Amino acid sequence: MTSSETSFNSRRKITLVIWCNMGKRSDFERVERDFYPTPYEAVLPLTDHLPDTFSFIEPCAGDGRLVNHIKVHGGICTWASDIEPQADFVFKADALDVEPQAADYMITNPPWNRKILHPMIEHYSDRIPTWLLFDADWMHTKQSVPFMPRLKKVVSIGRIKWIEGSKSTGKDNCCWYLFDKPDGEWPPQFFGRK
Ligand SMILES: C[S@@+](CC[C@H](N)C(=O)[O-])C[C@H]1O[C@@H](n2cnc3c(N)ncnc32)[C@H](O)[C@@H]1O
Repeated sequence: MTSSETSFNSRRKITLVIWCNMGKRSDFERVERDFYPTPYEAVLPLTDHLPDTFSFIEPCAGDGRLVNHIKVHGGICTWASDIEPQADFVFKADALDVEPQAADYMITNPPWNRKILHPMIEHYSDRIPTWLLFDADWMHTKQSVPFMPRLKKVVSIGRIKWIEGSKSTGKDNCCWYLFDKPDGEWPPQFFGRK
């Protein structure tokens, strides 16, 4: 192989690696560990589906942004952790190693990487009602089929402005999904935009 071929191949490899790290249809590289804190506006549609007071755990809490938004709406956080915590009240733990405590809900905006997301759906919804915020496209894919018996509610959010102060939104429509133990109750309820 000539040196120009080697250089072309290594440039191509770099391009492919960058492409693999990008969000679907987005033109920016996703940040490490998917650290996209949830903006307050994305939490408001969820509040219609929560009681006036309730307890919850947050196993991908990051800097605690979502925890703080939910506290404003009557949530009492009994456990917050993250693989790379960014606030004093967030413990260090892999979400799949956390044994869900007695709480009314697990609520998080998890990493969207399916290798983490899918085991998380099973691990938590086997034990407590689990609200997860992620891309709306997922429910239209074949990979979502095994999780359908656990899906109870879908609350549409639309596109989210993930980066504070930015003019643009992410290119994926999103929703809050409520998963619970499979109990034969199907189909899930869908709640559209208001
Ligand atoms: C999209 S951010 C959301 C942060 C926070 N839940 C919020 O809504 O503001 C996803 C978070 O998941 C964490 N994370 C990634 N992999 C994880 C794992 N295996 N266990 C626990 N947390 C993880 C990241 O460090 C990051 O803080």
